[in-house]
Amino acid sequence: MVYSDPLSAKIDQKKVKVRVQNILDMKKNSKRISSITCYDATFARMIESTEIDIVLVGDSLGNVIQGKKSTINVSIHDIAYHISCVSSALKTPLLVGDMPFLSSGISRAETAHNAGILLQAGAEAVKIEGASSEICEQIHFLTRHGIPVMGHIGLMPQSVHALSGYRIQGKNEHDKMRLLTEAQKLQTAGCFAIVLELIMPQTAKEISESLEIPTIGIGSGNFCDGNILVLQDMLGMNKEFKPKFLKHFLELEDSITQALNEYCADVRNAKSELI
Ligand code: KIV
Repeated sequence: MVYSDPLSAKIDQKKVKVRVQNILDMKKNSKRISSITCYDATFARMIESTEIDIVLVGDSLGNVIQGKKSTINVSIHDIAYHISCVSSALKTPLLVGDMPFLSSGISRAETAHNAGILLQAGAEAVKIEGASSEICEQIHFLTRHGIPVMGHIGLMPQSVHALSGYRIQGKNEHDKMRLLTEAQKLQTAGCFAIVLELIMPQTAKEISESLEIPTIGIGSGNFCDGNILVLQDMLGMNKEFKPKFLKHFLELEDSITQALNEYCADVRNAKSELI
């Protein structure tokens, strides 16, 4: 007996799986990299039918899924659970899992153990915030043991308290030089790409031009080698969340609440035969 799988029904067999090497090649061939976050199978199925290159199960799920004010409460098991949801419907884009607060940086053994949890859940690479010497040494360890790593500098939400809030990075010469050095250190440690979050566009441009590996910007202007947005944010699922850099490609909050109100009215009035 053959069962039809509703989740994979739309997967196009002709699509080419995106791997780390393709991401590196895209920079060499000046092809910009599109990336988005995702946390569940329903959205993953839709992303699969697009040309998005990288999907990140980000610790931003602490904000958009768990409703917390920061990403600090997110655990490695939360990320692993959402990776397994996404990976059941996603085949083509490179699937990256975020290493949450304190799951990396403490010791090499803990970092390797936690990265292993994400790979076993279905991730094909991990993302790590920061570029301290401990973190770079641990990234080097992971990459030498076959775990691809994406770096993340600039605004690092896990360090929101140390950074005194969610503010733009790389404004003065000293900050710019620090970010340029951090990016070089991450490249040397073996990262295949680096997220540049909320960095002054000119600084992000200089960092991107100084690296062989691609940069993926968020709120860092148009000169990075690619861009990432939080899915729920770009779909306008929270009208009130609209930082300067964020374009709402849809206003889903309005559409969804309107649909729910219509459904509610239909139920109350016993109007539609379709429910
Ligand atoms: O957690 C996340 O979604 C991220 C991206 C915004 C880069 O780190």
